[in-house]
Amino acid sequence: MRRFERKQNIFRNKDALGESYQPDQIEERDEEIEEYMDALQPVVDGWEPNNIFLYGNTGVGKTAVTDYLLDRLQDDVADYDDVDLSVISVNCKTLNSSYQVAVELVNKLRPAGGEISSTGYPQQTVFKKLYGELEAIGGTILIVLDEVDSIGDRDELLYELPRARANNNLDSTKVGVIGISNDFKFRDQLDPRVQDTLCERELQFPPYDAPELENILESRAEIAIAEGAVEQGVLNFCAALAARDSGSARQALDLLRLAGEIAENREADLIERDHVEAARSRLEQERVEEGMRELTTHGRLALLAVISKAAKDETPSRTREIYEEYTALCDSSGTDSLAQRSVHNHLSDLRMLGILSAYENRSGSRGNYYSYELDVPFTSAIEAMSDVLRLESEIETIREIASMNNVA
Ligand SMILES: Nc1ncnc2c1ncn2[C@@H]1O[C@H](COP(=O)(O)OP(=O)(O)O)[C@@H](O)[C@H]1O
Ligand SMILES: [Mg+2]
Repeated sequence: MRRFERKQNIFRNKDALGESYQPDQIEERDEEIEEYMDALQPVVDGWEPNNIFLYGNTGVGKTAVTDYLLDRLQDDVADYDDVDLSVISVNCKTLNSSYQVAVELVNKLRPAGGEISSTGYPQQTVFKKLYGELEAIGGTILIVLDEVDSIGDRDELLYELPRARANNNLDSTKVGVIGISNDFKFRDQLDPRVQDTLCERELQFPPYDAPELENILESRAEIAIAEGAVEQGVLNFCAALAARDSGSARQALDLLRLAGEIAENREADLIERDHVEAARSRLEQERVEEGMRELTTHGRLALLAVISKAAKDETPSRTREIYEEYTALCDSSGTDSLAQRSVHNHLSDLRMLGILSAYENRSGSRGNYYSYELDVPFTSAIEAMSDVLRLESEIETIREIASMNNVA
């Protein structure tokens, strides 16, 4: 018997719903595109480029529109012999300082084998090397720093690059920086001198509304999904869910993709509303897991205390009992424990995040008290914790207790 069998009744090109797919066509962004083109016009005219700062929530098309326009720009300036345009793009997500971004840029520009190491050089040396590489290319160079907010306040490069010409670090090369940020606050926290230069042209992409998302989904579904494999109203439903939550095309596309996978696994002929519902709850759970990773140490320990109670099949569990568990965990991790009151605050935060649920119990003379239990599957909670807490043996013990109690 075959173990693997091809399933292609739902998707025609599933990759077209994925992270790395670049659409040939951009929907619903005409005004933004016009403004963006206007900011890029000096490149075509042979002048020094504007520095551009583009911001908007995740999934609103910042990267897609930038890639699309810069491709067109490169095609179109090829007609002018006196414009020699190069584009260098770096995603800063995993780079959290100017230094690392500068090293990444240098290494992108150097031939394989000539890369420099990401530690050890003084910052100014790395900047000098970068100028050397830029000069070697010459002409007009647009440097795209996507998700640039992740460099935080270590933003010297954003001060340096736009001034490289004025400071005689660049001679024959015209450099423009396009900074893209998911976080508008990033702009405000920049040094005012950086703001002035980097944000020469500022573009904002607003969230999409439901009809816009539906159009984006429709044009993508045509490429990605087999003919007739989407039930009437499903795209509308995905668009409505994403519009209500984030206005992100990424979220809408993720919902559709996962709904399609669920349909496939259930051997359905087409994607139905139920599949979207299932996809929605699964994506929600993933988001909660991400939330767990962002907790503070004490938030995590408080959560681990509840997880430990759950493993013993003792939840819902009262704050006082959770607190005992928590102090024991603090002891074994060598962390000073907080007072019960503060732990109670952490527990209510966890409730707000949708990680715990709480019950208020009335107990006559002794007043009311709360008890808590996990509001997420035990397995995903303990998985998430073992990723973020260095308490291997405690977590292993909790797993063993859970399996003894058939808690899964
Ligand atoms: N206007 C649009 N037309 C077509 N596809 C879009 C549009 N906006 C976003 N997308 C798609 O949605 C997803 C998220 O967009 P992206 O550009 O990565 O968002 P951002 O960079 O703002 O986080 C990508 O798959 C992208 O191709
Ligand atoms: Mg992006």
